[in-house]
Amino acid sequence: MAGASQPDGRRAFVVGGSGQIGGWLMRELAARGVSAVGTYASTPFQGLVALQAAQLEAAACELRAHRPDVVYYPAGFTWVDGCERDPERAYSANLHEPLNLARAARDLGARFIYFSTDYVFDGIRGPYAEDAPTNPLSVYGKAKRDAELAIAEELGPLGLVVRTSWVFGPERQGKNFAYQLVRTLSSGQELVCPGDQISSPSYGPDVAHAVVELAERNLAGLIHVVGPEVMDRVGFAQAIAQAFALDPGLIRGKPTAELGQGAPRPLNGGLLTPRLDSLLPGIMRPLQASLADFQAKLHDPQLAGWVKPVN
Ligand SMILES: NC(=O)c1ccc[n+]([C@@H]2O[C@H](COP(=O)([O-])OP(=O)(O)OC[C@H]3O[C@@H](n4cnc5c(N)ncnc54)[C@H](OP(=O)(O)O)[C@@H]3O)[C@@H](O)[C@H]2O)c1
Repeated sequence: MAGASQPDGRRAFVVGGSGQIGGWLMRELAARGVSAVGTYASTPFQGLVALQAAQLEAAACELRAHRPDVVYYPAGFTWVDGCERDPERAYSANLHEPLNLARAARDLGARFIYFSTDYVFDGIRGPYAEDAPTNPLSVYGKAKRDAELAIAEELGPLGLVVRTSWVFGPERQGKNFAYQLVRTLSSGQELVCPGDQISSPSYGPDVAHAVVELAERNLAGLIHVVGPEVMDRVGFAQAIAQAFALDPGLIRGKPTAELGQGAPRPLNGGLLTPRLDSLLPGIMRPLQASLADFQAKLHDPQLAGWVKPVN
């Protein structure tokens, strides 16, 4: 499938193919007949190649060897409190390492798609559209914002930044909030959530579907890709609990100020999607439909052995 005769966008390189969004990007690309190479850092799923983005020259070399048309970068150091404790690693993994590969992509004439977050905002007046001014509160948010700016400046029309938020759904590693919730509530334990943090739940398979569609249309700049609802974390948790027939009474909301999280959080966050709505209306399913599809995928024989069971 890969070859000189393929049209633009038919060879992809996914840094973080073992992750939540990266896994769905790999499936989405395969379903479209795109030849995609995916990488892992510490979780070696079959078919992926090893890549440590911190090994700058080796990582760039690996990327160049595959001569992609499009590079997706759903990777980085995403533990927000860990970033606050280790700013050097946060800036390295979320800014310098992706920028190194963004430059390698640009030098090949390939497009580069970077994944960012609503943590680039302060959460005073969310939800935010693409043109809202950023003001990150945390090291994670600052590193992401700096990466957004650097990619826009250095890649111009070859760069696309996708901001997303609260990504959930079936995945290979089983790490996201929905998995944690199902594991906790199924064992009869209480789940404490920040009741005052508001954002946009986003269904992982739909995020990947939308982003590949945007990439194949050669879109550049900044585009928000999130689900249509803006809600608080307790409401989100209760919706997941109900979908999995678990007791929502075990979910307890607490103010962020009492949780002792290491990094400050934007409270009234979330993203508006004017660009996505005009380009691909309805591509992100509402929460209830996403939860129904989540259940269906957990029981889909074609995904058995790929999607991790919830418990
Ligand atoms: N999940 C969310 O709610 C959310 C919200 C907003 C923005 N985002 C952004 O979306 C992107 C993807 O998120 P996700 O939830 O899919 O993350 P994830 O599941 O944690 O996956 C991260 C991926 O990055 C890889 N990786 C980690 N360190 C690496 C390194 N040093 N070199 C190369 N690869 C490395 C991981 O590989 P191994 O697993 O093999 O180690 C994994 O494949 C991130 O940039 C994140 O900031 C996510």
